[in-house]
Amino acid sequence: MFYSNSVDSPNLFVIEPSNPARSSTEDLCQLIVSSTTDLWRKLHGCGAVLFRDFDIKTPEDFEKVALSLLPTKLAKQYPGGAPRKKLTERVWTSTSFSSYMPIPAHTELSYFPNIQPSYIFFYCWKSPEWGGQTPIIDMGSVLKDLPASLVDKCRQKAMVYSMLSTEKPQRFFDIRLFQWPWFRKSKTWSKTFDSDNPDFVEKKCLATGQQIKWLEAPGKDLIVETKAQSIIQHPITAEEVWAGFSPLFHIWGMAIEALFVTLHQRTLRSFVVLFLLWLVTVIQQIFICMCNLWNYIFKDKLNLPSWFPGNRKILDVCFEDGTSLRPCEVFWIIKAYWKNTTIFNWRDGDVLLLDNKRIGHQRLPFKGNRRDICTAFAK
Ligand SMILES: [Fe+2]
Repeated sequence: MFYSNSVDSPNLFVIEPSNPARSSTEDLCQLIVSSTTDLWRKLHGCGAVLFRDFDIKTPEDFEKVALSLLPTKLAKQYPGGAPRKKLTERVWTSTSFSSYMPIPAHTELSYFPNIQPSYIFFYCWKSPEWGGQTPIIDMGSVLKDLPASLVDKCRQKAMVYSMLSTEKPQRFFDIRLFQWPWFRKSKTWSKTFDSDNPDFVEKKCLATGQQIKWLEAPGKDLIVETKAQSIIQHPITAEEVWAGFSPLFHIWGMAIEALFVTLHQRTLRSFVVLFLLWLVTVIQQIFICMCNLWNYIFKDKLNLPSWFPGNRKILDVCFEDGTSLRPCEVFWIIKAYWKNTTIFNWRDGDVLLLDNKRIGHQRLPFKGNRRDICTAFAK
């Protein structure tokens, strides 16, 4: 085994083969099995381990590598609701999202503490032509860089995340559904939960600590809520870390993230996306304010169609006492994420292992037809 400093970051430990003739999938699996204790120590010390220049050619090879480290703990069912395709029994594609859009930093399923994976593997099957990196973020340092007022607030109050799933696919004026040149349709609850039975959905949610609210009647549109602390203690190292709040839940998250992405990528396309995301967010925000004002003045809720801007949000977040997270607070969080980010370019065959309780990840926009990054999750 050869430890390399090819990526300069205290959070990323790179392992490369010392002998190019011994770089097959089987060689890497043997290496992992023979140095498991050492690997766990490195992972919990740095937060992330990258296996580079091994001959990992397919998702099946990747699954073998992941299984050699965690033979019994890899998930066979994806615990979240992000759009992914299953490739093998324990491997999925990364979230399918338009190539020009950023995915802000988060720890996987931070909004879902009961089923949040402890570890997440990434595998680069085919690297993108340009961009498309998966920057990693040290959540211990993020916590130290957040303003004391926000940290105090987060210590006192948990956050409540809500996700809307509809009965039928519907188009909403919501920034999270924006897809040039218009908006894509929402995901139905039957697709999210892989069942047409409202009772089954209710039982499944309650069993994993989620609260559910059927709008109008059971079987109609559904809001699922989870409560999660924003600051947690790492279960192994006992370090206090930021839990990895996902800015996507706040309507300003995408626009603010796009600002940092544009400062980093500085392409014409990123400036155009930045402009569009700000435009859509401002319009959505204006309509939300108008709806709130109407409700405040006339007390009677407006009977607006669901697609009407401001009427429904596909995702939302607030503190447990009902107070909202201010856009400036979302800005501080994203700024702290970018300050503590390590960015490296994917190479074909890379396998990245993250301690999901300490290291967050994001996705930068990319160019080209393919960006085949696969994932596997472990509790
Ligand atoms: Fe993710």
